[in-house]
Amino acid sequence: MRMKNLYKKPITTTLHYNIWSRYCSMSVVIIWSLLILGCIFLLHLYSNNTSLNMIHPLHSSSYFNQLQQVENEKFQIPPPNKKRLPQSKSITPLVDEFLDKDSTLRHVFFPHKTNAIDPMKTIGKEINDSYSYYYPGRVWLDTDGNPIQAHGGCILYDEISSTYYWYGEYKDGPTYLAHGNKGPARVDIIGVGCYSSKDLWTWKKEGIVLTAEKTNKAHDLHKSNVLERPKVIYNEKTRKYVMLMHIDDANYAKASIGVAVSDTPIGPFKYLGSQRPNGYQSRDMTVYKDEDSVAYLIYSSEENNVMHIGPLTDDYLNVTSVMRRIFVGQRREAPAMFKHKGIYYMITSGCTGWAPNEALVHASDSILGTWETIGNPCVGGNKMFRVSTFLAQSTFVVPLNKFPGLFIFMADRWNPGELRDSRYVWLPLIVDGNDDQTLEYGFGYTLWPRVSIYWHRKWKLPLGWNTLK
Ligand code: DGJ
Repeated sequence: MRMKNLYKKPITTTLHYNIWSRYCSMSVVIIWSLLILGCIFLLHLYSNNTSLNMIHPLHSSSYFNQLQQVENEKFQIPPPNKKRLPQSKSITPLVDEFLDKDSTLRHVFFPHKTNAIDPMKTIGKEINDSYSYYYPGRVWLDTDGNPIQAHGGCILYDEISSTYYWYGEYKDGPTYLAHGNKGPARVDIIGVGCYSSKDLWTWKKEGIVLTAEKTNKAHDLHKSNVLERPKVIYNEKTRKYVMLMHIDDANYAKASIGVAVSDTPIGPFKYLGSQRPNGYQSRDMTVYKDEDSVAYLIYSSEENNVMHIGPLTDDYLNVTSVMRRIFVGQRREAPAMFKHKGIYYMITSGCTGWAPNEALVHASDSILGTWETIGNPCVGGNKMFRVSTFLAQSTFVVPLNKFPGLFIFMADRWNPGELRDSRYVWLPLIVDGNDDQTLEYGFGYTLWPRVSIYWHRKWKLPLGWNTLK
């Protein structure tokens, strides 16, 4: 027994010693690991914060500075084509040159596909290399390597899938002149193209989510008709994605609003029909969904002399009887609406068919008006660019909620000779310039904040635009 005990004791001691020493060394390892992990975490946090501080609007205003730099543009203007007569006194000769499919200047505005933006080529490269540069006017390829077909479009941010969807006219067909070569340039309706993206730069084709009708000539979507400027919004009450669009005949005489719905953002959308809102003509149009989820239809009416604005019904499928006439006599179209700090803004174009013209910005404290026309928002480029909206026409303004005051201005550089080759002109739109103005020198009135669209040959969104909390 004793022996046993004696024998046992040292064993117990050794055991204790072993357990203790193991416990100690394990603790040391754990503490060190925790310390190292902590350091790594702190370093990570520090580096993230440093980069965020550099660009976060609350900490620095420098993130706008680069986008606000005025970038000039010079063109080599070829000798005028004597055979060509100016189409309109209000359009500059350079715009005539732009509209001439035989012009030698054309390649400047419609650079060849070899110059295309191909986001897939940069995937996997270093962030600084690959980080999403927009090149306004260049062919822009989807993830399959095909030019994006989403003209006259809009962007929907889908909260459910945390994904951006780009909808627009799918115009990948031959361009011809309606009415035996006397009418406007057109492409038969193919449908509405839809692309998805997480970064607003790499776009995956989801397909044609509303397709043309091939046989029934009486159908609105018969290929011989016109489907333009589709806009999609989500209705939380009905859980439907609602598409509203300009529906017309080849003469632009039907002047109606078409409606389609889908259970998913990627369709297929079911076409429900068309109508003239409250009996009025409706051509170029847009839809704006306000913060209280009331959606508004805005459309060029009364032979494009007046714009109308009014709320849709709760399900977004119909107009209500409420309607205001705005920009009376101003002949505006291509409306694109956005809101910043409680003020509503709209960018519009004049009415010159596929030819570009001068954009104007309008503002109002209340969505139904009174609307005021502020002026031309285009900055940089050159004079010709500024009077022609950078040779493009407004279609939509994308809010970037993490950077208040910064938006993407989406426009179409139409190619009337080959509409499928129309280009996208996306540029930074910045609202600023009011906060620091004192009332003292303004006789008690404040001016509208400045709305500027800055020309850049190449630009990108500020780092962190979609990751900042
Ligand atoms: C200008 C409009 O903004 C476009 O959507 C299109 O309808 C063309 N006119 C047709 O000429």
